[in-house]
Amino acid sequence: MIDDLFAGMDLYDDRREAPAEGALVLHGYGRTEAPAFLAAVGQIAEEAPFRHIVTPAGYRMSVAVTSCGPLGWATDAQGYRYSPIEPESGRPWPPMPKEFSDLARRAAAEAGFSGFAPDTCLINRYAVGSRISLHQDKHEATYDAPIVSLSLGLPAIFLFGGFERSAPTTRIILGHGDVMVWGGPSRLRYHAVQPIKPGWHPDTGEFRISLTFRKAGRPRREGVSGA
Ligand code: SIN
Ligand code: FE2
Repeated sequence: MIDDLFAGMDLYDDRREAPAEGALVLHGYGRTEAPAFLAAVGQIAEEAPFRHIVTPAGYRMSVAVTSCGPLGWATDAQGYRYSPIEPESGRPWPPMPKEFSDLARRAAAEAGFSGFAPDTCLINRYAVGSRISLHQDKHEATYDAPIVSLSLGLPAIFLFGGFERSAPTTRIILGHGDVMVWGGPSRLRYHAVQPIKPGWHPDTGEFRISLTFRKAGRPRREGVSGA
């Protein structure tokens, strides 16, 4: 009965969805950590402010981004790349809080990817109407590691597609504290975030914040000298 009473209430949503092999949605997985994570994002953004990246094609992205960790997401005339330096300030990105990488590692393990050690956390800030069009995450040096994404604040409709842009997509609602993992056979699936709908969230106001954890740099090749 209690279950019926709370059915549909986001606060008690801890469902798991597996939209494809190698993909897992862990609803509510990061809800407890959310307030501390948002405070940490505020500190990171003081050091490395959110910026609207202008793509190589001259398009100003509606999503504002920053990063933390050894590598961060940057773009220049040559295109997108991961860089150890925040291009505007010339300084290294703020360090990735251990709590961030711990959560990402645990979530990855839940989806069957043990030992996930992200070297970058991309922080996206979506205002109402912001979106990310269908793309694959392909700028990493290896696709061996999964992608782990934590959603905070306003909900998003996440489209999870196939291996071609034109493939059909599955709609997944990602709310506050939800974590999505995709790796292995799903690592290169196209995905998108539909325009964020108007709303207000007690922890983020009129924004959605997502933290996306990736292993972007060279895989460590232990025991291989001169590599
Ligand atoms: C992305 O595809 O890089 C963004 C994912 C998200 O914001 O949830
Ligand atoms: Fe992506």
